[in-house]
This record gives sequence, C-alpha cells and structure tokens, in this order.
Amino acid sequence: MSKIKTIGVLTSGGDAPGMNAAIRAVVRAGIYHGYKVMGIKRGYTGLISGEMEELSLRTVSGIIQRGGTFLKTSRCPEFNTEKGIQKAVSMCKVFGIDIIVVIGGDGSYRGALDLCKAGVPVIGIPGTIDNDIACTDYTIGYDTALNTVSEALDKIKDTGYSHERASVLEVMGRHAGYIAINTGIAGGAEVILIPEKPVDFEKDVIKPILEGRNRGKTDFSIIVAEGVEKDVPEIAQMIEERTGITTRYTILGYIQRGGTPTVNDRVMASRMGVKAVKVIHKGLINRVIAYKDGKIVDYDLEEAINQTKSVDEEILEMLEMERILSL
Ligand code: ADP
Ligand code: F6P
Repeated sequence: MSKIKTIGVLTSGGDAPGMNAAIRAVVRAGIYHGYKVMGIKRGYTGLISGEMEELSLRTVSGIIQRGGTFLKTSRCPEFNTEKGIQKAVSMCKVFGIDIIVVIGGDGSYRGALDLCKAGVPVIGIPGTIDNDIACTDYTIGYDTALNTVSEALDKIKDTGYSHERASVLEVMGRHAGYIAINTGIAGGAEVILIPEKPVDFEKDVIKPILEGRNRGKTDFSIIVAEGVEKDVPEIAQMIEERTGITTRYTILGYIQRGGTPTVNDRVMASRMGVKAVKVIHKGLINRVIAYKDGKIVDYDLEEAINQTKSVDEEILEMLEMERILSL
C-alpha cells in the first residue's frame, strides 16, 4: 500500500452528541502527525458528490462542546448500490484521499466495509446514541442521550406523582434496549420493556403495576424502548383499561439526539479520534476503534461487523434487579 498522506473524515447515520469532539480529535491529531485532513460533508452523500474541504487546526475550534456534527450527516441510499460505491471511490481519487475515518453506527460500518472492499481503506469510530455496536462497550453520544432521557423522566415523574398517574415513556435505541434499561433503573421505573426480551403483557406490565398499587404506590413509570413491538399509545390504553389508573404517554423523540455532550462523551470522542489517527500512523487500515474492558482498542473492521451483541445475562439481571428496586 502507498504511504498515507491525506485522511478524509465524515459523520454518517443518526447524529450523536460528541461527534464534533471526535472530528476535532481526528483533525488535530492528524495534523500533529503530519497528515492533511479533509472534511467530507453529509456522510456518504458528500463523498459521492465530492463535497469536501481541507480542515485546518482552527476550523475545529470551539466545537468540542457543541452537539450535532458540523460536517452534517445523512442516510444515503445510493451508497448501498455498487454504482454509489464506485462514485465514492473515484471521488477519493479526485481529491487524493488515502483513507477515510467514518464516525457512525453499525449501518455506517457496513458502508465502510463496502468501501474498503472497493479499495478505499477506512477506520471506524463508533458514533450513535443507541450503544448497539457489538464490538464496543461504548458509543459516542450514548451518555448524553442517557442524561437527556433521565432528566425528562424525572420531570414526567413529578407530574405523574402529583396526578397519581401511570406515565409511559418511549425512548430511542432502534433495535436495542440500552437507553431504556439504564434510564429506567436511574429513574426508578416500575416497568422497563426492551426489544431483546419478549413482552408478556400480563406478567411484565399489569402485574407489577397492580402489585405496586397494593403496596401503596400511587404513580408508575413505564419505560418502553422504541424497538418493542407494541406501540406506546396502545400500551398506555391497555394499562388504563386493565388497571383503572389514568395513564399518559410521551414519545421523547429527537430531543435525545441533541444537546451539549457530557464530559464522558467529549473525553471518549477525543480518545477515540486520537486513537484512530494513531492506528493510521502505525500503518494499519480497515480497523474500528472500540472501548473494551476499560481501554480504547482497535479491531479488524470485518470481524467487528460480524460480531452480534447478544442479550447477555447482564441485561436480564438488570431487569430483574429493577423489579426488586422498584418494589
Ligand atoms: P447508523 O450508521 O447510525 O447505523 P444507518 O444504518 O442509517 O445509520 O446507516 C448510515 C448509512 O450507511 C446509510 O444511509 C448508507 O449510506 C450506509 N449503509 C448502511 N448500511 C449499508 C450497507 N449494508 N451497505 C452499504 N452502505 C450502507
Ligand atoms: O440510530 C440513532 C437513532 O436515533 C435511533 O435511535 C432511531 O431509531 C433512529 O436513529 C431514527 O432515525 P431518523 O433520524 O432517520 O428518524
């Protein structure tokens, strides 16, 4: 492989707080190690259309504390086609890009794999609020989203307490329940529903609410991950009909994707961005950066993609634990 001189960086898929910090780290560490760094706009969309420009040290000033991604992001259906990939490859030639750092979720990693198979080397950095990438214990944006949801839940609980209601809250996570389970525990939810565990409505929802009422509880929080099959309005209606407790629902939505990144997200993003450049500097390609057992590490991209995040014992234990803690 020829020597790498120019690094491209892009953000792809759903935005996540901390992506700016990761871009900044790639740019600053890249320039420090003698590389030219090109910022590619709008994820794979901008790669295909050649929307990119050189990033200097100062172009990433004052962004570490900002949510979103200043490079913008997109979901790019064209990139799922052979033609799209080929357009992207030729744009890399036009702009002299030797390797691309892709900051995004598992979908973006699949795109990155296609790209590396077509001859453009890549490095992945996990950026998604969902924390659903198998090879890493942490994804950039997850901590901020957890804190946003937790704050919202606390507020909903205040009004639920005052009116003696059941409050159903739908949170994001795509097909994963990490946001639901952790915010549910943090907010003392009586019921947490996640896509990883099939829901038995009588046993998992109605029973804990009625038993709680019989122990003197007057308000209830039910956290539902968006990947759960039943709709939140339907869940709320069923709770009200079956328990007689007035029930309201909230779908938290995109507020979970924005906001000032937490310290943890800024530090993780900075460490992962610097690690990505170090990996490139060592001459490695087609790697993904991950946080595993308390360390920032790197893995082979294809191996990482083929891993699946199974419903581990720990998740089930956490659900069981919350049953006890919300008695
Ligand atoms: P995330 O990266 O947050 O999981 P998506 O799943 O929407 O978000 O993926 C982001 C983008 O990555 C897609 O719009 C597409 O451009 C690209 N992508 C996703 N899956 C594939 C795939 N199987 N092959 C090629 N590109 C893909
Ligand atoms: O992957 C991040 C995420 O916010 C998921 O939690 C959610 O399912 C999805 O993106 C929503 O995507 P969109 O922005 O396309 O509505």
